Amino acid sequence: MDIETVLPSWDGELCSVLFDRETGAWFVIAVHSTRLGPASGGTRAMVYPSVGDAVADATRLAAAMTIKMAVAGLPMGGGKSVIVLPAPRAALGDDRWRRILRVHAENVQKLGGTYTTGPDIGTSSADMDVLRETTAFAFGRSVATGGPGSGAPATALGVFTAVRAAVAEAGLGDGNGGVAGLRLLVQGLGAVGARVVELAAEAGADLLVADVDPERCAAAEAQGARVVSPAEVTRTRCDVLVPCATGGLIDARGARTLPCAVVAGAANNQLADSDRSGQAARVLTQRGIVYAPDFVANAGGAIHIVGREVLGWTEDQVTRRTLQIGRTLHRVFADARAYGITTEQAARDLAARRLADAA
Ligand code: NAI
Ligand code: PHE
Repeated sequence: MDIETVLPSWDGELCSVLFDRETGAWFVIAVHSTRLGPASGGTRAMVYPSVGDAVADATRLAAAMTIKMAVAGLPMGGGKSVIVLPAPRAALGDDRWRRILRVHAENVQKLGGTYTTGPDIGTSSADMDVLRETTAFAFGRSVATGGPGSGAPATALGVFTAVRAAVAEAGLGDGNGGVAGLRLLVQGLGAVGARVVELAAEAGADLLVADVDPERCAAAEAQGARVVSPAEVTRTRCDVLVPCATGGLIDARGARTLPCAVVAGAANNQLADSDRSGQAARVLTQRGIVYAPDFVANAGGAIHIVGREVLGWTEDQVTRRTLQIGRTLHRVFADARAYGITTEQAARDLAARRLADAA
């Protein structure tokens, strides 16, 4: 993937790309839309195959934030930043990591509030504390420093609510969203996935889990889950696939053979082509697989961060709003049925209407 291919087909407002010679890190900030408010979205720090791949990821993720905020009814636009690490985080050392965070914070600060950030894959609330030393535009600081903490628990609650809504739509279980006895496969046992496993275990689900980190698998196994190889996730029979790792899990080809009845999870951009051809979503619909669009299901983190930091909500208000993800999904499912379109398209149409209303 190269920048010359990615940017001409992107409809965002701004994409900055910067290199820091001292650490060897690249920094990408993508502001997709400020129509509903200042752009907001997490900072992802990972090793990427190329800077072009990082720009492709940042721009797609920023676009997903725009529709996530719109569907969740939050007064924010969509943005995202990606830090291209010169080596895996564990190999960087603390001083180099701190400098990387400081350079990123300086870049965010230069945008003067057009973009506000928060935690995402590879960054935590503790990292937001460090960003906050340099910029006021970092949300999701740790509770110890007066922040609201990570949005991961709210995201997990929203994802579990989405699982229940999608299970009811598929007519599985008790028909009311109960997951007792249903086989759930959770891919990715990080901050969100591990909490989804707890919620599903409490609700009596039969749990399968997969992670590239054996320690995380062992922890889930101790709670009664059975471990599946990461390579087998899209080939393992289950009722509900819950993607909570990275995006791009399901392309049109994979959708043709996916052995499950429901897909509902946290990972951003689960469908490899959702913003282009929409083919994967169509295949899922044709096969009768209920797909809860990721940007609807995973909005709990955004609701937490924007609710607590921008709107002054209490944690209870955040929880109530997060639980409304279920109602939003029922509407998306009903629209998809009524108009004969995919659930992905129905959710995108809902976002488009909210964005048009704000114009
Ligand atoms: P995390 O970084 O804490 O956890 C990700 C987990 O996925 C890790 O345990 C990692 O080892 C595992 N993983 C990576 N590649 C894998 C693979 N190929 N197969 C199996 N496991 C793999 O991330 P977090 O915060 O739990 O987020 C999960 C997903 O949800 C991400 O895509 C994130 O963008 C998305 N998301 C997170 C939100 C939050 O509040 N944390 C909010 C909205 C979306
Ligand atoms: N990174 C998370 C997401 O994709 C949480 C987040 C939301 C971070 C909004 C910053 C701003 O939703």
